[in-house]
Amino acid sequence: MDEIRILEVGPRDGLQNEKTFLSLENKTEFVRRLASTGLNRIELGSFVSPEWVPQMQNTEQLVQQILEDQKQGAIPSHIEFSALVPNLKGLQRALESGIKEISIFLSATDSFSSKNINCSTEEAYEIYTEVCNQALKEKLKIRAYLSVCFYCPYEGKVLPAQVLKWVEKIEELGVYEISISDTTGKARASEVQNLLEILFKKIPSNRLACHFHNVHGMALANVWSAYQMGVRSFDGSLGGLGGCPYSKVPSGNVPTESIIYLLKSSKDPAIKKLVELALWLEDKINKKLPSSLLRSPYYRN
Ligand code: HMG
Ligand code: MG
Repeated sequence: MDEIRILEVGPRDGLQNEKTFLSLENKTEFVRRLASTGLNRIELGSFVSPEWVPQMQNTEQLVQQILEDQKQGAIPSHIEFSALVPNLKGLQRALESGIKEISIFLSATDSFSSKNINCSTEEAYEIYTEVCNQALKEKLKIRAYLSVCFYCPYEGKVLPAQVLKWVEKIEELGVYEISISDTTGKARASEVQNLLEILFKKIPSNRLACHFHNVHGMALANVWSAYQMGVRSFDGSLGGLGGCPYSKVPSGNVPTESIIYLLKSSKDPAIKKLVELALWLEDKINKKLPSSLLRSPYYRN
């Protein structure tokens, strides 16, 4: 059976909506500690407009610090770091930072795309065609997100045919994986199954990941549904932190430690380390995180 692959999106999707600004020092400590929990893929931030998402404005410095740590051997060399890029300016910033992997992000509906990146999906696709051409020339790895694959906060139910159309187009950009995103957290497990059945007729399962927000508490059920369908790559956020500031009801991703508990083992040593780190983070951002495992006596020291 293929190994479960987890992308920790806490430093990006987790923090991007937090009102309390996390200093570079705290973010660096956050990532250093994440890197010591056993996770091997971490999304560090995004090269988006600081006007739009102020929390991400220190992504350059964070990337440089973390890559320097890795060069010095303080962070294991096998850990892969990535960051979001919305346009050519973002790509330029990514290249200058030294990061080796970027993520592009498109939306299955134009309304969400306009709210999120100020252009339609078609326009974004044109921009990303150039971004990906240049990024591939620079030998960067590219991952993609497709937002609002089930429900759009502005257009309602999104049909699987619409999602398939964009997934097939995004495949042509040279990305290694597309993360099917339930941005609004409204999907039900049966809808996940239905969409994946349709997508898998055209796209191999190892090219898709799943990214579930937990607005209605359904994210873990959706992870299980996707797993049963053959998906092995999942995005998670430590403690369930986060959400997209341009979705109407921002809510965190499925907690990373819950994915590990569900799909790997309840005894996986990473769980305790993640719980401990989430409790540290609660203190820094002045709020409780939603993950149930954080309140369990079995995982707290
Ligand atoms: P815009 O205002 O249309 O940009 O924003 P513009 O091209 O008209 O430029 C306006 C100004 O922004 C200019 O500065 C540009 O230089 C600057 P000025 O000349 O006025 O001084 N600018 C930039 N600065 C820094 N970095 C850049 C950049 N680009 C332009 N890359 C833009 C368009 C895309 C920039 C903006 O809409 C934006 O940054 N949006 C990002 C929103 C975002 O980060 N959303 C959250 C991430 S997506 C998500 O969470 C969903 C996901 O988790 C999956 C899921 O759950 O669905 C991935
Ligand atoms: Mg998200």
